[in-house]
Amino acid sequence: MDLSTRIGALTLKNPLIAASGCFGYGVEYADVVDLSLLGAIVVKGLFLTEREGHPPPRIVETPAGMLNAIGLQGIGVRRFIAEKMPELRARGAVVIVNICGTTIQEYVELATILSDVEGVAALELNISCPNIKEGGITFGCSLHGTADVVSAVRAATKLPVIPKLTPNVTDIKPIAKAAEDAAADAVSLVNTFLALAIDVATRRPRLSNIVGGLSGPAIRPIAVRMVYECRQTISIPIIGMGGIATPADMLEFIIAGASAVQVGTANFSDPVIWQKLLNGLRDYMERHQIAALADLTGTLDTSRREKEWISS
Ligand SMILES: Cc1cc2nc3c(=O)[nH]c(=O)nc-3n(C[C@H](O)[C@H](O)[C@H](O)COP(=O)(O)O)c2cc1C
Repeated sequence: MDLSTRIGALTLKNPLIAASGCFGYGVEYADVVDLSLLGAIVVKGLFLTEREGHPPPRIVETPAGMLNAIGLQGIGVRRFIAEKMPELRARGAVVIVNICGTTIQEYVELATILSDVEGVAALELNISCPNIKEGGITFGCSLHGTADVVSAVRAATKLPVIPKLTPNVTDIKPIAKAAEDAAADAVSLVNTFLALAIDVATRRPRLSNIVGGLSGPAIRPIAVRMVYECRQTISIPIIGMGGIATPADMLEFIIAGASAVQVGTANFSDPVIWQKLLNGLRDYMERHQIAALADLTGTLDTSRREKEWISS
């Protein structure tokens, strides 16, 4: 059975990827999860410098999901390379680095620095974080912003370039197309949905940042729809995510058109979810006699449903 999947020049042994911000820098999970079992891990978003993020409360539980406004707390790219990469290399992890900037120049600088680091397999461009005021999502919400960041980073590195798109737009398809036209190797979608939770007793927002990003099963059907729409629009691989917590959730994304999937929020309640997802994928492919993952990707059958609608 061939579970491998291609993301630009990168071949992953399977389509399971830990999502940025929900798996630390990978090393924190290394004693419970065999990092080399995963297709890849995406580390917490990194800026050039260290950041403290927002003050607490930064996380709130919501029905079938969670709302966060961490504010991209992080150790900065230099400390990451010095303190985390040696262990990630030793553990055999395929490392995708999620990079963030307030200017295009910062993304380019990060890409240049990381291009020379042994063991960095690809760059995921965070142009979609809803929790910071400058840069990030400002780029991802516009066609020009997306194209400008992607082409500038593309010119600065030979690593696969994977912009991560925001769902907080009226129509995600042209944004995905802008990324493809700017020579992205793949796109990741989606980041969190901008949302607000209020404590009615105090009439105060539950997060210090007032608004935050919604993730978890609550967003899954919207994210699956976006993967499906983008699959109709672009030809580069799509990495799908949003609320995956079971093998069936993962399969929805793959059938909708994702070549790989990321799992974020589920890690907080089920850090050993990976083996279950892998077993579920193998079982499904065996039962449906599918020899290669590529033969399952994007196989949503809409024809019968259309006929049923017409006849009813
Ligand atoms: C606490 C938390 C921190 C996150 N940090 C990042 C980040 O640093 N960079 C990024 O691109 N996405 C970040 N995300 C978004 C996730 O990677 C993912 O896109 C989103 O949560 C949807 O997937 P899920 O429903 O499986 O969590 C974060 C999400 C959460 C819940």
